Amino acid sequence: MKFFLDTADVAEIKSLVETGLVDGVTTNPTLIAQSGRRFKDAIAEICALVPGPVSAEVTATDLKGMLEEGRCLAKIASNVTIKVPLTLEGLKACRIFTNEGIKVNVTLCFSAAQAILAAKAGATFISPFIGRLDDIGETGMALIHQIVEIYGNYPTFKTEVLAASVRSPLHVVDAALAGADVVTLPPKVLRQLYNHPLTEKGISSFLADWEKTGQTILE
Ligand code: G3P
Repeated sequence: MKFFLDTADVAEIKSLVETGLVDGVTTNPTLIAQSGRRFKDAIAEICALVPGPVSAEVTATDLKGMLEEGRCLAKIASNVTIKVPLTLEGLKACRIFTNEGIKVNVTLCFSAAQAILAAKAGATFISPFIGRLDDIGETGMALIHQIVEIYGNYPTFKTEVLAASVRSPLHVVDAALAGADVVTLPPKVLRQLYNHPLTEKGISSFLADWEKTGQTILE
């Protein structure tokens, strides 16, 4: 399972890339706004930090605009992945970008039917939004299960399932159980994954006992 970071905060990315756990980054216009950075500068900086795919989202809603913006963003670095919304125009743009050899992340997916269309349009990634479905009383994870199963039925579908709108460690574990190829994590959730009170407690008691021995490993 690949881990992407869902943030445009360059300092956060820099520190978490050092863990060796980060395979890519996803951004969206909200995350760029939160970063306070100029979009293209932030994407260039992130692309230099992370060798894997870095999703940069178009904001045009018409095909011509999406193509212009996407081609402009794709020039920033070879690891830029263009993010397009799951609309008819977005799907058309997806097919064109894919034919041009540009990776595409089709975002704002809320149904299995939409995910089928993205695979047919040649998307590199499909981003079903788990948390936002949970927010409206649906079960976001059920959608991940459905898409993984459907894509599994068709070996010609090469699109990877990227679980997005992830809000908790449980989402990560459940997405892994469902067989999602990628999960994109807010930095907070990545930290929650490794923090465990019993680990902290175990370290404290081991160190206390070790001190009683009076030994050092490097002696
Ligand atoms: O990857 C998409 C993600 O950024 C959306 O997350 O928490 O705003 O639903 P959220």
